[in-house]
Amino acid sequence: MQEETNVGPDFPSEPALAPAAATAPAALPPPEPPHIVAASDEAIARAAALLRDGEVVAFPTETVYGLGADAANADAVAKIFKLKGRPADHPVIVHMASADALDRFAREVPESARRLARAFWPGPLTLVLKRAPDVPDVVTGGQDTVGLRVPSHPVAHALLAAFCGSGEEQRLAGVAAPSANKFGRVSPTTAEHVGADFGASVALILDGGAATVGIESTIVDLSSDTPRLLRPGAVPTAAIEQTLGGTLALPDTQAPRAPGRHASHYAPRAQVKLMTRREMLETVGSHKGRRVAALALEVPVPRLPPALQRVVPVVAGKYAHELYAALRALDASGADVILVEQPPQTASWAAVNDRLRRAAGRGNLDDEP
Ligand code: TXA
Ligand code: MG
Repeated sequence: MQEETNVGPDFPSEPALAPAAATAPAALPPPEPPHIVAASDEAIARAAALLRDGEVVAFPTETVYGLGADAANADAVAKIFKLKGRPADHPVIVHMASADALDRFAREVPESARRLARAFWPGPLTLVLKRAPDVPDVVTGGQDTVGLRVPSHPVAHALLAAFCGSGEEQRLAGVAAPSANKFGRVSPTTAEHVGADFGASVALILDGGAATVGIESTIVDLSSDTPRLLRPGAVPTAAIEQTLGGTLALPDTQAPRAPGRHASHYAPRAQVKLMTRREMLETVGSHKGRRVAALALEVPVPRLPPALQRVVPVVAGKYAHELYAALRALDASGADVILVEQPPQTASWAAVNDRLRRAAGRGNLDDEP
């Protein structure tokens, strides 16, 4: 299907810039909380030192922001679970500076994993492999597998390089990091989102601007003979299948990490409902007493205040980039229900549609792949 380009207006709810009066001083942006720090070389070095000291720091990746700790330090990783309010049996992904550290964290690495690593790392792909014996249980959720990824974001890369250092032992270090949101909430795509969820309880939040991809990595499980897609993401399924020279199976529903094992709960506080544009317009016109917000494709919804709607492009990559910020903003508007105009159902929209289904409560947006 030919994707349309964004011909719609910009977000109508963003305040227009007020024309500067000749005498009025320029309005200053509100001060940032002191723990959100621009990702300068100095701040990255400080973050790496905190990681070495067993502290938790938040950092940008190309997908979403991560909440990181030294993957070899079980106490440090346990702090992440406490901060997130995440159940202990949910594994976290280990972020590595390069594929050189694959064999440090995984055992029996199949050729297919090396092929995918060569093709897609650094980048938004996570490989689930059999874990090396000394990977802490807290990282793997007590399973025999570990999720590994080499992110491409320059700040994530610089942080990993600074943390990993140059000595052989350091070079093989890794940072365990789930998305930097409270358990079950919308993943963060900006440093401010992380700040909103955690306040000053995270020692340092490195600000590297808005995440470019905007939704979490594609997860492929290569820990058994059957390669499986555990979570669709920015790396398209077809590209992975082409590199593997075979098809990807769906998650094994009997396996411990399969979706649906834990009760689903949708991420925003407001209820999320997926619908056609016509249904959306009818609902906006007929809602009774409920505060309704809308996430519309390309064209604003008439008779709905700008603060209660976001207009997103019908281009899968751009939509993904804006989705979580839009859901967070609409949730913060105090809406009881967020009406989401259903995007196309084509392959390029698979990851976006997966997240929308989870947000609508038919899966857990945060912690089931
Ligand atoms: O893009 C991403 O992957 C982001 C950035 C920060 O890298 N991270 C992320 O982490 O989304 P998290 O923890 O929010 O989601 C990771 C998913 C979870 O659903 C977890 O169950 C799954 O990966 N996972 C991690 N290790 C696994 C393993 N050994 N087996 C199966 N699933 C695993
Ligand atoms: Mg998450």
